[in-house]
Amino acid sequence: MATSMRFDGTVVTVTGSASGIGRATARSFAEEGARVVVADVDGEAGTEVADTLTDETEGIATFVETDVTEDGDVREMVTSALDEYGTLDVAVNNAGIGARYKPLTELSPDEWQSVIDVNLTGVWRCMKHEIEAMVEDGGGSIVNTASILGQVSLQNTSEYTAAKHGVVGLTKAAALEYADAGIRVNAVCPGYTDTPLIDSSAVTQDAEAGIGDEHPMGRYGEPDEIASGIVWLSSEDASFTTGESLVIDGGYLSK
Ligand code: NAI
Repeated sequence: MATSMRFDGTVVTVTGSASGIGRATARSFAEEGARVVVADVDGEAGTEVADTLTDETEGIATFVETDVTEDGDVREMVTSALDEYGTLDVAVNNAGIGARYKPLTELSPDEWQSVIDVNLTGVWRCMKHEIEAMVEDGGGSIVNTASILGQVSLQNTSEYTAAKHGVVGLTKAAALEYADAGIRVNAVCPGYTDTPLIDSSAVTQDAEAGIGDEHPMGRYGEPDEIASGIVWLSSEDASFTTGESLVIDGGYLSK
């Protein structure tokens, strides 16, 4: 049970919240009393997350099946928040897919484009609709999930590195453009975090132990450790913070 209720009645959308970092984030908001729109391409898992949050937390959650590469789906996600709960206060653009772990020259155009479409263009598409709603409502807060690979690179992750560097830049651009509309826009840059994205990625095949050790803390992060940064950036505690990309990486980038 959360000790504070900073988000009592606050309306929040979280993309990619059927799993991993997004699911932990949706739960953190709901535990503090938020109305959460769980948005994900995975209908079964997303419905289960929304039902569980409504049953087990102080908040309320509804699921909206959303593919962030589809403009109509993203529009529907925002419309649902407005129709169901009356406003949109906080939006977390977190949906993402992993790197292909191939050298740049071995990537097919489709492999390149699929990661750019979800991880970069998906964030832009979500912000476009969210910001339109927030401008109408007099402000809000947005947090995008980038990565340590939005700050540096790792061999064989060119498409993922490019997308996540793009998210960091897009976050700054949106923060500048909408500061005077009362909208803060920030990002988090997680280090490797223990989620199904890591399990399913090719990185586990040859380098899992090595990458864990690359983090000075000697382990992956936990989804809750990333969620707490997202929640802080979304909250009034971060009222003078915008355009920031908060690194949460067990010291990875300090080397
Ligand atoms: P995850 O695989 O556990 O969760 C990702 C969620 O996004 C899934 O529920 C999936 O169904 C959803 N999703 C995928 N494509 C989608 C689409 N087109 N539209 C809507 N939803 C879609 O992965 P995780 O680790 O929780 O990833 C969340 C974010 O964190 C991603 O943006 C990822 O790039 C980023 N990240 C993850 C790190 C890690 O080590 N796990 C490290 C740094 C960043």
